[in-house]
Amino acid sequence: MNNNLSVEHLTGIKDLTRQDIELIFKTADNFKDVINRPIKKVPSLRDITIANLFFENSTRTRLSFELAEKRLSADVVNFSAASSSVKKGETLIDTVNNILSMKVDMVVMRHPNPGAAKFLSERIGAKVINAGDGTHEHPTQALLDAFSIREALGEVEGKKVVIVGDILHSRVALSNIYCLQKLGAEVMVCGPTTLIPKYIHELGVKVEHNLRKALEWCDVANMLRIQLERQDIKYFPSLREYSMQYGLTKEILDSLPKEIKVMHPGPINRGVEITSDVADSKQSIILQQVENGVAVRMAVIYLLAAKIERH
Ligand code: CP
Repeated sequence: MNNNLSVEHLTGIKDLTRQDIELIFKTADNFKDVINRPIKKVPSLRDITIANLFFENSTRTRLSFELAEKRLSADVVNFSAASSSVKKGETLIDTVNNILSMKVDMVVMRHPNPGAAKFLSERIGAKVINAGDGTHEHPTQALLDAFSIREALGEVEGKKVVIVGDILHSRVALSNIYCLQKLGAEVMVCGPTTLIPKYIHELGVKVEHNLRKALEWCDVANMLRIQLERQDIKYFPSLREYSMQYGLTKEILDSLPKEIKVMHPGPINRGVEITSDVADSKQSIILQQVENGVAVRMAVIYLLAAKIERH
């Protein structure tokens, strides 16, 4: 297997080859062993400085990247737009160039604008990792999701995965579709017509509006949050009605013909897209996803850092 990624930055799963994804998984397998040892650290990136730039809220992704960087022994600086000079009118490029002049080698960025990570990668010398760009892509989430399916079911190839909920506003859905298809899985999306984008058929996924039928088809259900913060109009009458049609309950789960795995990228709205007893059930791999996120992000950072010219 080639030990180099085919890309210089990770701005989206769309740009990756299947070989890239398999290399990230193989590398993450090694890092998963590392983070389960008493000493959870390797000295690999002692000469690298990484800036985490978050222009949107985050809990999991931000902490996971920071832990991954620290476990690789990189120096880490954190930037949050809410408490920065962005509030005084500074542009993205000016903000980033000021940070880079402090000798930063890699930038992890979450931004509300689709394409922001790609825009940045074309204008700066540092490596860029997209930690979520608006409604576009969230590549490391899709990688950790597929890695968790591989861990739970042995492989991704041939598995049937349904992504349920607000597909229209979801960067997780788009990155998952690209990633799962590249690895040979079959993908279905399920939700109300108003939350399924019109271009979805061009992506080669199945569409099902009936939750029970979707669940009867799949091996894995990835339940998404309704992104009310990105919805400028009403896409369904009420959360209560959405939950009655598309919420996954223990009663539905237990009545299915086979035992499926349940995933969620977080944050969960318990009682809306998923009930508490489902989120905490033995079929749920939600906390395994979070655990795997650190190993997968260590792998992505490590492989991109290998492409940085050291002087
Ligand atoms: N899954 C995810 O991106 O969660 P955060 O928004 O908390 O980072």
